Amino acid sequence: MTDPAEAAKRLAAARAVELVTPGMRLGLGTGSTAAHFVALLGERVAQGLQVVGVPTSERTRAQAASLNIPLSTLDETPELDLTVDGADEFDPALRLIKGGGAALLREKIVAAASARMVVVTDRSKQVARLGRFPLPVEVDRFGIESTRLHVIAAAHATGCAGEVRLRHDAQGHVLVTDGGHAILDCVFGAIPDPDALAQLLNGIPGVVEHGLFIGMATAVIVADEAGIEVFGELG
Ligand code: A5P
Repeated sequence: MTDPAEAAKRLAAARAVELVTPGMRLGLGTGSTAAHFVALLGERVAQGLQVVGVPTSERTRAQAASLNIPLSTLDETPELDLTVDGADEFDPALRLIKGGGAALLREKIVAAASARMVVVTDRSKQVARLGRFPLPVEVDRFGIESTRLHVIAAAHATGCAGEVRLRHDAQGHVLVTDGGHAILDCVFGAIPDPDALAQLLNGIPGVVEHGLFIGMATAVIVADEAGIEVFGELG
């Protein structure tokens, strides 16, 4: 029997595939929901659809290559028409937390290169206020403890409290991202002012990027057993 959450993710991804038209330059997101999109896109490409994709992670690159989706880089294709990606949370202002899969830096660069960013999720990602999901912050590996203290200070200054911990992989090693950085997960429970927190995090030298995506998503496609709901503008 199909897992209802997986079925919902695939439904949202299928709606996003309908937005793809011939010749599009696409940003390909990372995570289990984006993987459904890539899989469905691969089916369309096999049927003759011509597009080019820029992956947001090595994982997605491998999946897309295995499906013979033509791939490019932002150096060759610096402007994209549409990025489709997942999210760990989204709020009513379409602000996102991303980076649960440690791909947030490339995800944000690719989204920023895109005319539109459409997010695909199941209902569990919809929140009234961001922060239940630990906020990932990608940091340089030089001086992590000092950077961590700056992140804690930024959190306190914007009304957040909670543990800020270094992410490890399944083998217990410090997790290293595709870009060679580490991740601090900020377990805040709630982020009262995401815009202010984002601004302060942007000013910390050791912070490479953070998982708050503000003003980037143009639409969120949410699916559950009842069907699809769209927030924002798909067009
Ligand atoms: C990857 O770094 C993340 O930003 C993902 O987009 C996010 O974690 C959503 O993943 P799922 O679709 O697997 O929940």
